[in-house]
Amino acid sequence: MKIDKFKVEEWFNKYEKDAVYDLADTCVESLSVDELLRITGNKDRLIKEIFSRKLNYGDILGSPKLKKGISKLYKNQSPQNITPTHGAIGANQLVMLSMVEPKDKVVTVIPTYQQHYSIPKSFGANVKTLRLKEENNWLPDLNELENLVKKDTKLICLNNPNNPTGAVIPDEMLRNIIQIAQKSNAYILSDEVYRGLNHKGNPFSESIADIYEKGISTGSMSKVFSLAGLRLGWVAANKDVINKINSQRQYNTISISVLDDFFASVALENKDKIITRNLEKINIGKKIVMDWAKSEPLVTLIPPNGGTTAFVKYDLPLTSTELCKKLQQETGVMILPGETLEYNKYLRIGYGNNFDRLETALKIFSNWLRKQI
Ligand SMILES: Cc1ncc(COP(=O)(O)O)c(C=O)c1O
Repeated sequence: MKIDKFKVEEWFNKYEKDAVYDLADTCVESLSVDELLRITGNKDRLIKEIFSRKLNYGDILGSPKLKKGISKLYKNQSPQNITPTHGAIGANQLVMLSMVEPKDKVVTVIPTYQQHYSIPKSFGANVKTLRLKEENNWLPDLNELENLVKKDTKLICLNNPNNPTGAVIPDEMLRNIIQIAQKSNAYILSDEVYRGLNHKGNPFSESIADIYEKGISTGSMSKVFSLAGLRLGWVAANKDVINKINSQRQYNTISISVLDDFFASVALENKDKIITRNLEKINIGKKIVMDWAKSEPLVTLIPPNGGTTAFVKYDLPLTSTELCKKLQQETGVMILPGETLEYNKYLRIGYGNNFDRLETALKIFSNWLRKQI
């Protein structure tokens, strides 16, 4: 099956290895195994436990401990509503494989993770995009959504909190989106990979799976728990959807790794400590980016409210691809061009780690900008 190139991944593959200052990363500084085990306060016991684990296929549908830990991230999900996957990338793909057929109508917000439009397009689905706008604080325009969603629309895709803009859909707006979906009995897939990293108030806003019968939530250990190396994600949804997903899953997953299952279960048991650590880091990084954006006349930025990325608009006669290539060649600063997310004249900056490097790189970027005028 033909599929469009995954533009963000292509960019990373091409530029990441030569970056001196990588501002394209979306993770909060990753935890080492040692750091994770220390956080638990039970390092020695856990080391014994992991060393004695047999490396078989493990629990095919995920261990009870893992599924319980994931279900506790939701208000209304039980372990039977959860299926672990190979990262959120595996979760999104399984949802598409299970729910979308050729010619089905799919509506997705952009900017978003490219899976949400390129995978259904590759199946021959009819995909319409709702372009989020800066003037709406990067939130969906509900009138536009209502016009795009037809009576036979099968699936609406959201990414909440949004990568790259950091916008968090307010709970009330989420309920309005559900009302729109209900008119056509559409499913809503919400990629909630950054859910748990709201910057103010409760770090977890409402999950679509908790408030809509046909809501499908995907999540993972990568961002919120700083454990991208585990490659562990999940789908949370009603039993019928989970059954469909599990029958697809037999063809491409079998089970998740027993080691990933083990470490993820441990992290989930210590979620408050890890999330507190991560929000502290995010607040430091966000302040650096916000202060820089305020002092840099060639850029504007709508403050992000969740997640780890900022989507910066710039004012220069260069495409975002030209800008990022030239910037990296001349300074070693790597920033992701908005064009990889279908938005020219924007740049995505990740601010979840390495704050000295972030501060230095933004200074270098500003000096470089001066020379382009
Ligand atoms: C919105 C979004 N969804 C899914 C993924 C994939 O995450 P994972 O590492 O869990 O596969 C990413 C990774 O950057 C992402 O930003």
